[in-house]
Amino acid sequence: MSLDLKSLVRTIPDYPKKGILFRDITTLIEHPEGFRESIERIASQYRGQGFTHVAGIEARGFIFGAGVAIAMGVGFVPVRKRGKLPGTTIGQNYVLEYGVDTIEIHADVLSNVHKVLLVDDLIATGGTALAAVGLMRRTGAVCDDAAFVIDLPDIGGAAKLEAEGVKVTSLMAFEGH
Ligand code: PRP
Ligand code: MG
Repeated sequence: MSLDLKSLVRTIPDYPKKGILFRDITTLIEHPEGFRESIERIASQYRGQGFTHVAGIEARGFIFGAGVAIAMGVGFVPVRKRGKLPGTTIGQNYVLEYGVDTIEIHADVLSNVHKVLLVDDLIATGGTALAAVGLMRRTGAVCDDAAFVIDLPDIGGAAKLEAEGVKVTSLMAFEGH
């Protein structure tokens, strides 16, 4: 458990548009020990605290969230983009840079007997994660914890989550945008 995980994240300049430094986790997950250690470091912070589920946000949150759920021995809840789940859903809108999107979960998957850890690869504005936390909480489930591989603290998303009573952890941070 001593890998420099941050060094395994590749930075691609000017993607998806000029001036953006894209933090690319594909190089981290392509590295077998890097991937395993990322999952284990997240899971080890949350074992033994009564979590019943991990919720991962489509798409990159599935990669880490599914692994964390297995490593914790709990169920996995896919938080999907609109229109992908076959059963009755509840949804939450969130604001993107251009326009609005919706994330959904099955309406019957969570209730007030459940405690959920939210997992995603990265937090920037926090808009996606805040919407997901709101969705979990509407079911009556407790969702007071969120774990990310990457935090971009200068954009302020983690602080927004904390202000909503969500404790945030991340494996690494990149300063600047
Ligand atoms: C990315 C990233 C996070 C989100 C963070 O997802 O994976 O889910 O943006 O941004 P925010 O904190 O400003 O909301 P995106 O929907 O772009 O792509 P993905 O489907 O590849 O996960
Ligand atoms: Mg995402």
